[in-house]
Order: sequence, then structure tokens, then C-alpha cells
Amino acid sequence: MYYFVERMTEADIEQVQVIERASFSTPWSANTYRHELRNPAMSRYIVARASPTLPPPRYERPAPRRSIFAALIPALFGHTTPPSSTYPIVGYGGVWLSVDEGHITTIAVAPDYRGRGIGELLLNGLIDQAIDMHADVLTLEVRVSNVVAQQLYLKYGFRPAGTRPRYYTDNGEDALIMWTDPIRNPAYQEQLRQLRERLFARLREEAGEPAATRNATPPA
Ligand SMILES: CC(C)(COP(=O)(O)OP(=O)(O)OC[C@H]1O[C@@H](n2cnc3c(N)ncnc32)[C@H](O)[C@@H]1OP(=O)(O)O)[C@@H](O)C(=O)NCCC(=O)NCCS
Repeated sequence: MYYFVERMTEADIEQVQVIERASFSTPWSANTYRHELRNPAMSRYIVARASPTLPPPRYERPAPRRSIFAALIPALFGHTTPPSSTYPIVGYGGVWLSVDEGHITTIAVAPDYRGRGIGELLLNGLIDQAIDMHADVLTLEVRVSNVVAQQLYLKYGFRPAGTRPRYYTDNGEDALIMWTDPIRNPAYQEQLRQLRERLFARLREEAGEPAATRNATPPA
């Protein structure tokens, strides 16, 4: 199976909610996701999709034109956004920008797909989104009992920096606060490069891609 990430859209919320309910004891509602997706300057959400074959090149939507006709044409002839992807969603994550800090707000992988590198792929996607929003550092809160997620964050340079007592309302559990070093520093970038190299090798392996095609240059 091939896994890839792309930006979450409102059409994805239904599938995201299934994974959300399987992953968290206090799941976010569909409305919360809708609200988050409508503020792309400060909040970015991505999904990981699974494909049995190499997915086609990603379609990047052109920047919206600002002329009045750009708003009129969809109103007259129906919406012009491409149809939602047919590749099923197997995980998702989000990051908020607060001044120069990127806050990882959520990350989850469907239970049947855990342990295959998808959480790591998503975290990489969130780091890219944070860099795109000009964040300098990353931070997050994680349940003190959630050792699996903490291991993932430690691997990507997050370090514990205190707790928020009784942060989680469902069981009064403490949150561990974690921070990275500045993410655009050469040292962090080099760490990221090495981690990505290993992750991509692992994902290619899991996709069963023959070694001969691994370094093939994609067609122009
Ligand atoms: C946390 C979560 C997103 C990880 O996703 P995943 O796809 O299973 O993780 P990956 O396969 O990409 O593993 C990446 C790293 O996570 C850590 N990890 C993953 N599974 C682990 C396990 N069972 N035990 C310990 N560490 C584990 C390891 O550091 C691993 O790196 P490694 O393979 O080099 O050891 C996933 O377990 C999940 O959705 N959990 C429920 C939701 C949640 O708790 N989200 C975090 C909220 S703060």
C-alpha cells in the first residue's frame, strides 16, 4: 500500500470523524473541524490516504482569482472545485499558528493502520505546514500516559518541558508539554532530512516497490 498526505477539505470530515471517534475519548465534532478548515492562514489540517497503486501526481489548485467573475462563475454553473479524492483516509493531523509557534493540535491514525509509519508521515506533513506558516518552533500537549505518541514526538526532537495538571477533562489526566528546538535551524533541518530518508525507505519497502524503481527519476 502507498500512503500520501494532502490538505484536508470539508469533504473529508466524515471519514476523519470515524478515526477521531476510534482514537480519542473526547472527540472533536464535525463543526469544530469545519471551523478549523475555514481559517487556513492560522490553522492547517492534512489527511493521509492509502492507495494500492502509485497515486497520480497531486493536483495543486491554482490561487483563487480576485475578479468578480471568479465568484460569479461558480454561482452560475455550480462549484468548480475538483471532486473529493477516492483514496480512503487512514490518518490526519493539524497544526495552529500562534505568533511564531506551531501548535500540533491533533494527530491520529486509524487503528488498523498504526505501526506502519503513517503517524510519522503525518508529523512530517505538519512540520512542513508549520514551516509554510513561518512558525519558528513547535509545541504540543500529550497525555502523560500516551507513551506511543510521546515516542513519536521524541523521535522528531520534541522535548518535555513541564506539565499542565488535570488538563484532560474526561479523567483529569495531566498533559505533558513538549517543545522542539527552532525548526529552521540547520541542525534541526539535518535531523529532519535523515529521519525522512529513513521513513521514505520504510514506506517504499512497505509498498513492495521493487528496488530497481526506487531511484527512478519521475517523468517530466
Ligand atoms: C500516535 C499515533 C498517531 C502514531 O501513529 P503510527 O502510525 O502508529 O506511528 P508510526 O508507525 O508512524 O511510528 C512512528 C513512531 O511512533 C512511535 N511508536 C509507534 N508505535 C509505537 C508503539 N506501539 N510503542 C512505542 N512507540 C511507538 C515510535 O517512536 C515510532 O518510530 P519507530 O518505528 O522508529 O519506532 C497513533 O498511535 C494514534 O493514532 N494514536 C491514537 C491517537 C493519539 O494518541 N494521538 C496523539 C495525541 S497527542
